[in-house]
Amino acid sequence: MITVTEAFRKFRSRLELTDREQRDASRRQKEIRELLADNLARADDFLSGSYARWTKTKPLKDVDIFYVLHEDERANYRTNQQPSKILTEVERILAREYDQKNVRRQRRSVSVEFPATGDDERVVSFDVVPAFVKGDHYEIPDTSTVKGWTETNPRIHAEKATAANEAYDGEWKGMVRMVKRWNQEKGKPVRPSFLLEVMALQLLRPPFNGNFPYEFMMFFATAKTRILEEWADPAGLGPPVSDSMSVAERQKAAEALNAAATAIRNAIQLGKNGQEGAALKAYRELFGELFPLS
Ligand SMILES: Nc1ncnc2c1ncn2[C@@H]1O[C@H](COP(=O)(O)OP(=O)(O)OP(=O)(O)O)[C@@H](O)[C@H]1O
Ligand SMILES: [Mg+2]
Repeated sequence: MITVTEAFRKFRSRLELTDREQRDASRRQKEIRELLADNLARADDFLSGSYARWTKTKPLKDVDIFYVLHEDERANYRTNQQPSKILTEVERILAREYDQKNVRRQRRSVSVEFPATGDDERVVSFDVVPAFVKGDHYEIPDTSTVKGWTETNPRIHAEKATAANEAYDGEWKGMVRMVKRWNQEKGKPVRPSFLLEVMALQLLRPPFNGNFPYEFMMFFATAKTRILEEWADPAGLGPPVSDSMSVAERQKAAEALNAAATAIRNAIQLGKNGQEGAALKAYRELFGELFPLS
């Protein structure tokens, strides 16, 4: 039978992106860039968010495409303009190509869904994030804040994730992907999932001790209380990353995190009692069907 450590390693690698998924993301990025560039002058574009940092979980949804507008567009979409103006324009351009039913405006981006083809090596959806340069970083529309625009620096988020991963023996990004998978499996008690990554910067304390269940138990047991706190943007630019959840939602999240800590503690005990099969089933119940039993 597979050991618990082997099972976690297998699970972790199942959440890694395949070459095909990466090629697909890159192809769509170019396609979307061309489409937008016909209507909105472009300065730059790149894949950002958790996809670019290797902290994205499966299925591969909501890959962020950062589309940096040329300064020529500032007067049209930024100066004295509501954030909804640029989002509406991006939505219009995407809907013309991909059909309105697949395109949706969100708080800071416009999502495009690609209908399923039964091929699970494809990216299911993208979030197109229009941005303006601001100093050494960027500014993106944000319809949920009074200011209307949120400053962000994807480079700093990426550097922090890389540093955390190195300090944690190269296991940090894998742990974040697995924690995000747990969140999906439980109906997203923690929102946004970026908050889990931000919490992991503090809560996964290096060095990695080699024992996945123990490290997850520590994470969940600490997160269950700390989810009630405010969590700042690690780059110190945007609004608190924890600003999407109401008090009641935070309570629910705390309960879910607590249940996860308890379930792992019980599974560890099962393993100690020689009931490894039952322990593996308990981990699968927490993390979903990608967690292997053999
Ligand atoms: N409050 C914030 N302030 C500044 N930048 C933010 C904030 N929230 C998110 N971001 C940036 O925007 C990116 C995209 O946000 P998103 O919610 O898609 O998170 P994500 O890290 O890509 O996670 P997911 O796996 O859920 O897509 C983040 O990776 C981060 O770089
Ligand atoms: Mg994202």
